[in-house]
Amino acid sequence: MVTGGFKGRSIISIADFSREDIEYVLAIAKRLEGMKKKSGLLRDRIMATLFFEPSTRTRLSFESAMESLGGKVIGFADPNVSSYKKGESLYDTVRMVEQYCDVIVMRHFVEGAPRLAAESTTKPVLNAGDGANQHPSQTLLDLYTIQKTQGKLKGVKVAFVGDLKYGRTVHSLTIALSHFSPTFFFVSPPSLRIPSYYLEDLRQKKIPYKECEDVMEVMRQVDILYMTRIQQERFPDPADYEKVKNVYILKKEMLANAKVNMKILHPLPRVNEISTDVDTTPYAYYFQQAGNGIPIRQALLALVLGALK
Ligand code: CP
Repeated sequence: MVTGGFKGRSIISIADFSREDIEYVLAIAKRLEGMKKKSGLLRDRIMATLFFEPSTRTRLSFESAMESLGGKVIGFADPNVSSYKKGESLYDTVRMVEQYCDVIVMRHFVEGAPRLAAESTTKPVLNAGDGANQHPSQTLLDLYTIQKTQGKLKGVKVAFVGDLKYGRTVHSLTIALSHFSPTFFFVSPPSLRIPSYYLEDLRQKKIPYKECEDVMEVMRQVDILYMTRIQQERFPDPADYEKVKNVYILKKEMLANAKVNMKILHPLPRVNEISTDVDTTPYAYYFQQAGNGIPIRQALLALVLGALK
C-alpha cells in the first residue's frame, strides 16, 4: 500500500499496511471526527455489505459510517437469504454485486475469501473479518483507541488475553502494533496460544514478548489489557471448547494494582470474560472502542472511494 494511494484499493490484510499507511488512516479518521459538514462526501455512492458470518458492530458501523457520509447501503446480513443458499459461488456473487455498488464490505468464514473477492472485481473490497485470519478495520479502530487513550502508539505495553489461537483481532493487531515498538504479553491456556509464526515474526523484529497463563502476572505492567472471547464457533471439537470456555473472567477486584491509565479493550461481543462490575470502572473502554468504528470506517470508505486524500 502506498500512503495517499488508497483510491480504488481493497483493504484485505493489515499486513499490507506500512506504518505510514496506518498513521495516515488514523489522521483521516481524526479529521472526519472533527469535520462538521461531511454528509455529502459519499452522496449517491453505494456500499454492498455481504456478511456470510454474524456481526453486530462491524456491519452496523460500516452502514452507519456510509450513511453518515451521504451514501446508500444494500446487502445481506445472513447468507441464507441470498443465492449462496442455492449454490452460487463467491466469484459469481461478487461479479453480480459489483454491478450494483461502488464498494463491497465482506465478512466470510473462509480465510482468504475477501482476497479472492478482491481479485474477482474492479470495485474495492473491504475485509470485515475472514475466519481466524484478519480483521483490518477492527485493527485500525483498536489502534485509534489506543492512540486516543494513551496519547501515543509508540512503546505501549499490551496484554492479549484469552483465545489467541483463533482470535483474528489479536492476529491483526499484533502485526499492526509491531510498527510501533511495543511490548507484548500473550496470556492464554496452552491450547489457545498465538500461532508460532506470529512469535517468529516478533523475534525477527526483536520485539519483546512474554507468554503466560495467569493474567495477574502482567496486570501491574500493561497499558492495554485486550480481552477476547473464546471463539466457540472455530473449535473443531466442542469438548475442547468446554475445557476452556471460562478460563478467564476479569473481575473488578483484579484491577486493584493496574496502572492508573490502563484501559481494558475488547473487540466484542463478550460472553462472560469481563464481569459487568468492570463496566463502571475507569479502566473499561470497550464500548467507546466500538464507537471508534465509525470514524475509522468513514475514513476507509472515503479513502477507497476517493472522496478524501
Ligand atoms: N468486533 C466485531 O467484529 O464485532 P461483530 O462480530 O459484532 O461485528
